[in-house]
Amino acid sequence: MDVSEAIEERRSIRKFKEDPVPKEKLIDILEAATLAPSGKNKQPWKFYIIQGEKRSEMIQAMERGMNRLSKMGIKTGSAKLTLRVMETAPATIFVFNPTSKHPLLKRDTLEVYSDIVDIQSIGAAIQNMLLKAFDLRLGTLWICDVFFGYEELCEWLGEKGQMIAAVSVGYPDVSPSARPRKPVETVTEFLGQP
Ligand SMILES: Cc1cc2nc3c(=O)[nH]c(=O)nc-3n(C[C@H](O)[C@H](O)[C@H](O)COP(=O)(O)O)c2cc1C
Repeated sequence: MDVSEAIEERRSIRKFKEDPVPKEKLIDILEAATLAPSGKNKQPWKFYIIQGEKRSEMIQAMERGMNRLSKMGIKTGSAKLTLRVMETAPATIFVFNPTSKHPLLKRDTLEVYSDIVDIQSIGAAIQNMLLKAFDLRLGTLWICDVFFGYEELCEWLGEKGQMIAAVSVGYPDVSPSARPRKPVETVTEFLGQP
């Protein structure tokens, strides 16, 4: 499969078959992640793969976080739907920046810049994961609703770094059509003459 095909045909998948994802394929996906460019080649990533019986612990941790936020009057929006996807996906990969800390902790200017660079590097790694998975005929969902269970998920994983996202992976049980995109001309300004 060429890169253009993967970029154009990949979709977010929210319904997976029950079949587990072979370990070699998960490793292939993580190899692709680690081939991403990163600021100063820092490679600021760490992955946790949640499968099988561990999924219910993950769901419980996220639910604890969502309940805590609800009690504070914070709306958890789409997180309930995302939670159901994570519950049924055969594997969910958590992506952390182990060199950073909780996003709400106070930090100085250089730390903020460094965080922004790292988040871009990790975004590139996650996109590589999605494209590689698609190449392997696997479906993925990039998930940031895990932020609604931030503290609880970090505590459950025993990870003190910064949680960035999760990616659920499995064999797709749906084939969604392309979601709308803003046309390039509406988000671009050309300045100067070629
Ligand atoms: C940073 C990021 C966070 C996302 N978080 C979620 C999420 O928590 N739950 C969810 O269902 N989809 C999530 N998505 C998937 C988007 O909804 C999806 O990419 C978008 O609607 C476009 O659809 P497509 O991926 O099929 O092109 C996320 C995507 C990105 C890039």
